Amino acid sequence: SSFEGKIAFVTGGASGIGLGIAKVLVERGAQVVLADLRQDHIEDALAEFAGNGRSNAVSALQLDVTNREKYREAARRMQDEFGGIDILVNNAGVGLEGPLLEATYADYDFGFGVNLGGVINGFTEFLPQMVAHGRGGHIVSTASLASEVVMPPHLAIYAASKAAVCHFCEAAKAELAEHGIGVSILLPGPVKSRIHETHQNRPDHLREASGFKATEQKLARRIVGENWMEAEQVGRLVADGILADTTYIVTHGYYKDGMRARAEAVLAATPDTQEEAPDFGQFRED
Ligand code: NAI
Repeated sequence: SSFEGKIAFVTGGASGIGLGIAKVLVERGAQVVLADLRQDHIEDALAEFAGNGRSNAVSALQLDVTNREKYREAARRMQDEFGGIDILVNNAGVGLEGPLLEATYADYDFGFGVNLGGVINGFTEFLPQMVAHGRGGHIVSTASLASEVVMPPHLAIYAASKAAVCHFCEAAKAELAEHGIGVSILLPGPVKSRIHETHQNRPDHLREASGFKATEQKLARRIVGENWMEAEQVGRLVADGILADTTYIVTHGYYKDGMRARAEAVLAATPDTQEEAPDFGQFRED
């Protein structure tokens, strides 16, 4: 099958969407490493793979993607154990929600630290080895449809962190293609997961000063919708997207009108004048 012999490193791989992606990559022949903050999620996930007789294809390591030193150690381990990875899935994220007037720097640091910083750390630690081993590869990063459409209130920090991931990946794509490394952006709508456990994923030093304590207590009680997408279905879309080097992998059509309205509003505000294209290639001689 299509991922035979490939090594995949999946952050947030022990639950929800990351686990769904990991399962499909394993089914299709990959060797997968689950990198996750939560030891309890890791144990659940490994038990599930063991139950399906897939233990040989999976291993796990406890990693906080915001910890650069630990992330560097993890990447070094992948180099030593596997000769480097072929597929990086930057998927770890937290569902930060709350009224802006209640947000503190602890909330900004938490949201941007995991959702954007974790992705940047993934690129920074793994790109050198993916370029050096010369086999090419692929990097998928999980953004959100919340970055493409203005969702209900209280998601500003989340949406901004995800929009940054999306634009970072778009901008990186052409440069990495020169090294045979593909780039995809996963834009999910509602998917069954444990993203409502945000408060359990907060590091202690960003807990006390948070302004979102009440919101996160409420979020913890949110019921996962029956009609939300199964994570393995997302996993199949991602696996196909990797093989086709699809830039955008979108799970739901539900927000299409909102996405179009947003794009059209920007276009409507844009002058029709056809000036000469700016030239950014001129430099002073000094
Ligand atoms: P989840 O909570 O079930 O899975 C996320 C995993 O990431 C958890 O196992 C958690 O322990 C881990 N994690 C959290 N912080 C971490 C850190 N600092 N370092 C390493 N691992 C960490 O949630 P879900 O929904 O599967 O989330 C996966 C990604 O999908 C996230 O980036 C989320 O923002 C995104 N997403 C989810 C949607 C949904 O409806 N479930 C919709 C749009 C985007």
